[in-house]
Amino acid sequence: MDIIKSVTEMQQRAVSARTAGQTISFVPTMGFLHQGHLSLLEEGRRRGDLLVLSIFVNPTQFGPGEDLDVYPRDLEQDSQLAQQADVDIIFAPDAKDIYPPGYATYVNVEGISEPLCGSSRPGHFRGICTVVSKLFNIIQPQVAIFGNKDFQQLAVIKRMTLDMNLPVEILGLPIFREADGLAMSSRNVYLTQDQRKQALVLSQSLATAKELVGAGELDCAAIIAQLKKNIAQQPDARIDYVQICHQLTLEDQIRVDADSVLLLAVFIGKTRLIDNSHLVTFCEITNND
Ligand code: PAF
Repeated sequence: MDIIKSVTEMQQRAVSARTAGQTISFVPTMGFLHQGHLSLLEEGRRRGDLLVLSIFVNPTQFGPGEDLDVYPRDLEQDSQLAQQADVDIIFAPDAKDIYPPGYATYVNVEGISEPLCGSSRPGHFRGICTVVSKLFNIIQPQVAIFGNKDFQQLAVIKRMTLDMNLPVEILGLPIFREADGLAMSSRNVYLTQDQRKQALVLSQSLATAKELVGAGELDCAAIIAQLKKNIAQQPDARIDYVQICHQLTLEDQIRVDADSVLLLAVFIGKTRLIDNSHLVTFCEITNND
């Protein structure tokens, strides 16, 4: 496994691999790898001759006052995990090489990047789309693999890829959870023991919503009101958003249907956690028919 920091060297390796007829699979991350990332790498290994993992804490997707400076980093541990996952190349550039002096070009997706995280984190998706399109140009993958936990991120990247005719297949894989249900996230390390328990309110809210839907409650406002009440019972919880949206447009829905996704962003103390789930499974729809 090689660790490449230079943009030019990475691009040359990608061109050589392509010329040799190899398929490049790509897992973009900000490092501090967990099981969720490893599941993406496992799929990446299956899908590519050359598996590239990027580790880059991208400054342009963090807003002022957010956790850029304290975001957890551990390249040594990540390298060991990547080696075990049979990664061929870790691409770990410096910010000054991705955004050199005079840098002036940004990619902005309209519409679906505006609600939810886009509204509470202005500029977040502009930063993500900019770095992901740059990484695609540097690494030249045929397939790029993302986690479904960042549901809106995945939707925005799919939109960008389609709109810009980028020749990359975008694959989203299921959320990886701890045994007690907490969605895996590099940010979970910020939680104290007590906050870690309170954080379960996110995955429990998804379960509660599905139970309500299963019992026949299809009114989005009623479901959201119940969830907000439950979340507010946690002393360190502060709701950013609880919304039920159409899975493709991310527009708010009035009644739950087969396209409904519940999306949550909740601060537990200072840590902002997100989670999501579809509310109606294929089985439930066919059973109701
Ligand atoms: O999901 C992430 O870790 C980041 O947003 C990504 C896609 C690597 C872009 O910096």
